[in-house]
Amino acid sequence: MTDHILVERQGAIQIIRMNRPDKKNALTRAMYAKMSAALAEGDADPAIRVHVFLGVPGAFSSGNDLADFMVVASGGDGGTEVWDFLMALARVEKAIVSGVDGIAVGIGTTLNLHCDLTFATPRTVFRTPFVDLGLVPEAGSSLLAPRILGQQGAFALLGLGEGFSAERAKAAGLIYDVVEEAALEASVLAAASQIAAKPPQALKIARDLMRGSRDDLVARIGEESEHFRERLKSDEARAALTAFMTRKKG
Ligand code: COA
Repeated sequence: MTDHILVERQGAIQIIRMNRPDKKNALTRAMYAKMSAALAEGDADPAIRVHVFLGVPGAFSSGNDLADFMVVASGGDGGTEVWDFLMALARVEKAIVSGVDGIAVGIGTTLNLHCDLTFATPRTVFRTPFVDLGLVPEAGSSLLAPRILGQQGAFALLGLGEGFSAERAKAAGLIYDVVEEAALEASVLAAASQIAAKPPQALKIARDLMRGSRDDLVARIGEESEHFRERLKSDEARAALTAFMTRKKG
């Protein structure tokens, strides 16, 4: 099991921390698998009332590991870990709070569409460069983002790949609040404690009512995944991925 995902419990709170700072928390297949397992275990355990997603200072996540994408682009097997995680995320039964500091690219942004409360810091930028990579939106974002941001806001995020600052994201309803870096984890944990103290059955019903049926979301994730897997093998994606893998820094 990878130690790039740390799972910890604080009372009724389960904290899932992405912890691969040298790659800005780029997510590998093993990391997705561990996060899926944690969500399933936390949901099944009555002692857990709320899930929390955190990253490291300066990086929530730089998105899917592009080397893993490159494997698929080159004809290899991508596995099912990513899609299993996205399905698990869409079906989570307990509330989710996230704390985002700094880089939030791709799944680092779209994961938050499934959260009940997201806190971000002033230096956070949310960005989904799917189209620039020759890819399409994932994690149900093609359904959820238009609901939250309207068609034009969603197009700016998912089509143009515009960066959304934390303030813009808050004004657009994408996140709950903006707090200073030093206060991020305390704010997240305070909100999670508040949720954990609620009557769990009433909270679950309230959350289910607000979210409605997940069937359309799950169907959309499936539809997105079919396109995504095809796109990964396209010339457009291969060129963009090769450009990233062979870029010169400096
Ligand atoms: N997959 C694999 N490796 C990644 C990565 C990703 N998604 N994002 C960052 N990394 C790696 C870099 O290659 C670099 O590795 P190295 O030190 O071995 O060269 C390391 O993480 C640090 O990244 P770096 O680019 O030096 O940091 P930065 O602060 O200048 O930029 C980003 C950070 C996230 C803006 C930039 O790395 C980036 O654009 N990454 C790709 C994001 C992306 O397209 N994600 C997929 C979305 S679907």
